[in-house]
Amino acid sequence: MKVSELNAWNGLDEAIDRALAQTDKALSLMGTSFKYSVSEHLWYPKSQNVEWTTGFWTGELNLAYELSGRQGYLDAVSRQMPSWLDRIENRIDVDHHDMGFLYSPSCVGFYQLTGSHTARKAALLAADNLVSRFQEKGQFIQAWGKLGDPDNYRLIIDCLLNLPLLFWATRETDEKNYRDVALRHLHTALPLVMRPDHSTVHTYFFDPKTGKPTHGRTAQGYRDGSAWARGQAWGVYGSALAWRETREQIAYDDFYATLDFFLSHLPSSVIPFWDFDFSEGSGEPRDSSSLAIVICGMLEMADHETRAKADELRDGARRLCGELFNRCAVKNPEISDGQLLHGTYARKSPYNTVRNRGVDECNVWGDYYYLEALRRLKGGWKPYW
Ligand code: GLY
Repeated sequence: MKVSELNAWNGLDEAIDRALAQTDKALSLMGTSFKYSVSEHLWYPKSQNVEWTTGFWTGELNLAYELSGRQGYLDAVSRQMPSWLDRIENRIDVDHHDMGFLYSPSCVGFYQLTGSHTARKAALLAADNLVSRFQEKGQFIQAWGKLGDPDNYRLIIDCLLNLPLLFWATRETDEKNYRDVALRHLHTALPLVMRPDHSTVHTYFFDPKTGKPTHGRTAQGYRDGSAWARGQAWGVYGSALAWRETREQIAYDDFYATLDFFLSHLPSSVIPFWDFDFSEGSGEPRDSSSLAIVICGMLEMADHETRAKADELRDGARRLCGELFNRCAVKNPEISDGQLLHGTYARKSPYNTVRNRGVDECNVWGDYYYLEALRRLKGGWKPYW
């Protein structure tokens, strides 16, 4: 697919208006609860502050404030802040690496917007928790499970989006260790997750005794050797953020390699299937969230590029966002309280380790990254990542 051949898009203002109407609908239904990770028949169940996904709802509210200037969104985030501090202080569902997904769009965002001490404190505690999962043997942040457990002695590509919390923590405190851990994880992870054809590996195991990398495996992709669409998207956005922080050539090259793979494997109907093994006619569900993530990655990279390359990235991102709006954005709050249709959290296959979850539904990170893309396209955004 040639992105430059997609239709030009001038619908940003309309998309923002409609997105805000969706956020209003969700906020009226959620009250002080969080959106659950995925919708059920296009409506989000209410959730406590658990799982790896609640930060995206708080982040959506931060973005809605930025897009509208309406104080009500910030007031709603403010009411959630005690829950964010409580969660990390009392270790509620935080024995995993997803501290960035949880605390960057929520607390780092809110701190940047308001200077909230609670948000800053919670985000720094989350960064400490992420650092505590660093394994000297292997030089990586262990994604899931009990620390040191041989069955869980692995990193996953998604962690690239958790690292900005560590870079932020060093900027905030001047403590070098956060950044050092992020750099060591990056130096281990980037060469392992990238295949020669520029597709990506979802998870990579290490020998806990020697620290040697042993083998790649998928958890959420179709099979070990396939390219899970969202994993590829984490690779695109994650390497753009790594380039911003490190200026190391591997991050730059990985950004263009993963992006090229992603774009050149898009179907003619633009919205990717959940795994790039599938194409038009497969009958498999799509994952709109992966495209929203990639658009954000392109717009991040554009901020660090030469004029010509930045223009190309921004033009492509805008066209892709137009496709996302036309094909997936909810345009009527009577049918759903989500933002983006056609997401897939997890699709069971004979070769992966998940059950079907949120198949052809809205998901809360797709909603968030879609709003982030709209905010970025407006210009002048200070990233929460
Ligand atoms: N980080 C988990 C996922 O992308 O499903």
